[in-house]
Amino acid sequence: MNKIFRNKTRIMPFAIMIGLVLFPIQPVFAQPLYKVEGSSVDKATFNGWNIYRTEACGSCHGATGEGNVSNPNLLHSMKNLTKEQFQRVLVEGRGIMYSFRDNKTVVDGIDDLYAYLKGRSDGAIPAGDLTEMK
Ligand code: HEC
Repeated sequence: MNKIFRNKTRIMPFAIMIGLVLFPIQPVFAQPLYKVEGSSVDKATFNGWNIYRTEACGSCHGATGEGNVSNPNLLHSMKNLTKEQFQRVLVEGRGIMYSFRDNKTVVDGIDDLYAYLKGRSDGAIPAGDLTEMK
């Protein structure tokens, strides 16, 4: 057994112990993407819903996000899109979808839009009117 290998085997139990200590407190750091109770959602997600309605997303993708023959169903899209890909489509536009680069409401609200549409896609957030959680 060489020296390096021996050192690694000695470090392993400590690494495992540190892992076991950190694992239970991990949820404290990981913020959920959205909070929902019935049709009531957290402030950021509520903002996402408002932007979706007021900034014309629904005029192409449908009021409920399900799309139509010429516009993709965002409830399906969100299952595959990473946050970076989502951001890129909004900022750069793609095909018929124009860029929202100059729309400050949309650019500043990308995280909130992402949370709202992810929640819709997960089946956790219902279609239709939402209220803000107090
Ligand atoms: C003028 C119609 C139109 C508007 C307005 C519009 N979209 Fe789109 N969107 C499209 C079309 C069409 C595509 C598909 C583009 C392509 O791939 O050729 C698309 C693609 C997307 C995608 C990527 C879907 C995928 O599967 O890759 C996302 C996410 C998206 N739109 C979100 C939004 C959001 C959020 C808004 C509002 C801020 C919005 N769109 C406004 C027409 C529109």
